[in-house]
Amino acid sequence: MHKSEISASMMCSDLIDLKETIRIFEEEGIEFLHIDMMDGNFVPNFGLGVDYVRGLRKLTQIPLDIHLMVKDPEYKFQWIGIQSSDTVSIHYESTFQVQRALDYLEPFGCKRFLAINPATPVSALEEVLEYIDGINLLMVNPGFAGQKIVPSTMRKAQKVANLLKREGKDNIIIEVDGNITPENARKLRAIGASRFVAGTSAIFKGELNEYKQNIITFRNNIE
Ligand code: DX5
Ligand code: ZN
Repeated sequence: MHKSEISASMMCSDLIDLKETIRIFEEEGIEFLHIDMMDGNFVPNFGLGVDYVRGLRKLTQIPLDIHLMVKDPEYKFQWIGIQSSDTVSIHYESTFQVQRALDYLEPFGCKRFLAINPATPVSALEEVLEYIDGINLLMVNPGFAGQKIVPSTMRKAQKVANLLKREGKDNIIIEVDGNITPENARKLRAIGASRFVAGTSAIFKGELNEYKQNIITFRNNIE
């Protein structure tokens, strides 16, 4: 089983507190900063962009977990400033040439994840298992923080875990994104997920001085 990792969802952070938030994350050993990039086209919302990433790099060395909710992502990689310690997720539905998009990501040396929406069939993963390091399993329809889990995604997480086992691909990481409360995280850990996107349901709750305790509580649920 992969070591469990927290990917803190930066779209949920308060800009005014950014520096102090990052300091807490570094102190608590947060493994990744989750960056939701949205183009207002693939998803209705707009999200974090290239300048935000550039600013964040000046604040911290924590690697980024870049979740691209943009149309035709293969033509956007070069603008983002991807580093080899980062992870980049692209969506199955975001391009008609998913495999080529994964190929275009390879030169950056980052980890390559395929993201699938709640209604994307698990079979969408089958033909790309040899080109990916992980699967970003959306537990909500992407675009907005603070949503409720789509109930069928729990069952689906088990199906994904079964597929990886059947194909002998236990090396592929299962990341879960959207409404990952400590309770949902615990269930998903038992199924085999190892990277947990922690947003308003996990870390970004209450005041800044509560984040540390939120992280400790969350970690207890995924170990
Ligand atoms: C999905 C986003 C959100 C969010 C996670 O596109 O990644 O799921 O940041 O945080 P909460 O806990 O608010 O769903
Ligand atoms: Zn995300």
